[in-house]
Amino acid sequence: MKSQSILKPVHVSHLMDQRGTLDVAELKIEDQFETKRLYCISGVPKSQSRGAHAHKSLKQIFFAVAGSLELTVTDGSTIETVELVAHKEGFFLPAGYWRDLKNFSDDAVCLVLASEHFSEADYIRSYDEYLRWRANE
Ligand code: TYD
Repeated sequence: MKSQSILKPVHVSHLMDQRGTLDVAELKIEDQFETKRLYCISGVPKSQSRGAHAHKSLKQIFFAVAGSLELTVTDGSTIETVELVAHKEGFFLPAGYWRDLKNFSDDAVCLVLASEHFSEADYIRSYDEYLRWRANE
């Protein structure tokens, strides 16, 4: 069986001149959704992590707009870790995967585009519950 990545890279191109840098991500059809919400995570101490949940329906795209951090995703069997780095590629995460964000650099700012408005009902915050939910999908 062909192994398929969970995370899909989103290419970022740079337009640099004496006025500074412009980073642009043009989304491919398979990564596109109507962005209904965006949020930024910053000021995360070295000892702390974020995430530790899954979303049943929400699709997201993660970028580091400053600094760097690690994004780990799993479906309970496959596990993938990528480094998000400012000015480098972002990653599209489909619905239904557990995620952890850690190893934030001091200056890290993580920008997240989300396909839905905030809904606590879309979260699964227990890993055991997530594995049960995944098994029934
Ligand atoms: P959560 O998604 O658990 O944080 P992270 O994935 O960054 O670790 O959200 C933390 C809290 O913020 C939680 O109480 C829900 C709230 N929240 C909102 O109200 N709106 C939002 O768009 C997000 C992402 C979180």
